[in-house]
Amino acid sequence: MRWTIRLRLLGLSALAALAVSLLLVVDSLSSRFIGKDLSRIEGQYVPLLEFRPQVEAGYEQLVRAFQDAVAAQDVEFQEARRLRADLLARLDQAPGVLEPVLVQRLRADLEAYYASALDVSRRLIANEAGEAVVGAKQSMQEQQRKVRSRIDEVAGFDRAGLEAAFEAVRNRRKVAARARLVIQVTMLIVVFLISLRLASSVLRSIHELSAGFERFGRGDFSPMTVRRDDELAYAAREANRMARNLEALTEQQRRSQEELARANKDLEAFSYSVAHDLRAPLRSIDGFSLALVEDFGDKLEPEARGYLERVRAAAQRMAQLIDDLLLLSRITRAELRRQRVDLADLARAIAAELQAREPGRRVMFQVAQALEVEADPQLMRVVMENLLGNAWKFTSKRERATIEVGVGGEEGARHFFVRDDGAGFDMAHVERLFRPFQRLHSAAEYPGTGIGLASVQRIVSRHGGRIWATGAPNAGATFSFTLGG
Ligand SMILES: Nc1ncnc2c1ncn2[C@@H]1O[C@H](COP(=O)(O)OP(=O)(O)OP(=O)(O)O)[C@@H](O)[C@H]1O
Ligand SMILES: [Mg+2]
Repeated sequence: MRWTIRLRLLGLSALAALAVSLLLVVDSLSSRFIGKDLSRIEGQYVPLLEFRPQVEAGYEQLVRAFQDAVAAQDVEFQEARRLRADLLARLDQAPGVLEPVLVQRLRADLEAYYASALDVSRRLIANEAGEAVVGAKQSMQEQQRKVRSRIDEVAGFDRAGLEAAFEAVRNRRKVAARARLVIQVTMLIVVFLISLRLASSVLRSIHELSAGFERFGRGDFSPMTVRRDDELAYAAREANRMARNLEALTEQQRRSQEELARANKDLEAFSYSVAHDLRAPLRSIDGFSLALVEDFGDKLEPEARGYLERVRAAAQRMAQLIDDLLLLSRITRAELRRQRVDLADLARAIAAELQAREPGRRVMFQVAQALEVEADPQLMRVVMENLLGNAWKFTSKRERATIEVGVGGEEGARHFFVRDDGAGFDMAHVERLFRPFQRLHSAAEYPGTGIGLASVQRIVSRHGGRIWATGAPNAGATFSFTLGG
């Protein structure tokens, strides 16, 4: 049988019910026995308590009636006769608890007394004297003693018997009380021990379960031990099953991640080598086109020379694209070396370079005092060069322009931004900004390959940060980023 917690709790309740029923049985048995004892005592002693005083009083009255008759010189003895009849009638109705033989004897003794008292009374009224009267008196007194002792014999109160009967009742009550105590204590101990065992085993199971879950949470999926066969064991078995599934899933995920990483690496290496290998033939195309122009330029038609120039321009543009691709690939693979970098310093240096390249432009740079971060200095240079380069490029149509570099947000959630008041862009296409080779402006208006922001985004996300942009056509653009860490 499976000793489930439910079953054990039911068992406990059954035990408690059994204890209560046993106590009820003991109570009803003891009260029945005690009741019987008490009614026996009542049947035996209460009639005596009424009978004896009545007989004694009747007898005393009879004695006094003779004395009164003698004093009144009444030879009729009517009162004495009546009292005698009453007494005898009472003896006829003596309670059943009395010995009938003894009652008969008392009757005989009373009759004998009556006769002797009548004799003595008559003699006294007749004023007799002498030996005969003295003898009659003596025999009457003898009869009186006999009657008294007979009353004692017949209706004597058996004090020892009564005490013994009450003692028996008390004993019964004691036995019942002891039985109750034994039942109560035994049940209390049994229920207590069983509850203790149940509680400790349930608590131990819960403890093992929670320890197991904690282990699973840490990624250790070794199964929990299942010792008992109750509801908690069922939960443990289910948890083990879940852990096995989870372990299998985790393993599967780890393997696919490994495969993905390997595939990514292969792809990266492949595109790197393809890009790298494409450069040599490109250089040949460019080189030989140049050689053709230089060595045979005078023999060529101007139209043919024009074509050759276009071949060279296309080759150079392709070389630029390949260089950008290689840069992007390097950014992804290069090891991150974090150290203290001041983005404000970087911004000022890049601004100076930009201005030196195009001294004619009237651009005002507003750069924050200091923007210190923990980041890879080389990669940060790429970020700032691209963002400031874009701001510089997309304000080129403005007579005067302002480019701002600063920090926003609260401490702990800082973000840096590069803001310009240039051409701006349509927010509807904001998603495309950070994709490689995606451009929102034509190359004729604003030259470029469209790889800059893709590189910036990769660098920012390698630092654990994110980048976003806001802007509007002809109302400037703001590029903001965090750096995590
Ligand atoms: N400051 C800016 N103002 C308005 N548009 C911008 C700004 N910066 C970027 N863009 C838009 O985002 C596109 C992508 O920018 P990204 O820097 O990647 O490419 P690019 O500057 O065109 O070329 P590259 O940086 O590769 O030379 C740009 O072509 C332009 O349409
Ligand atoms: Mg750019």
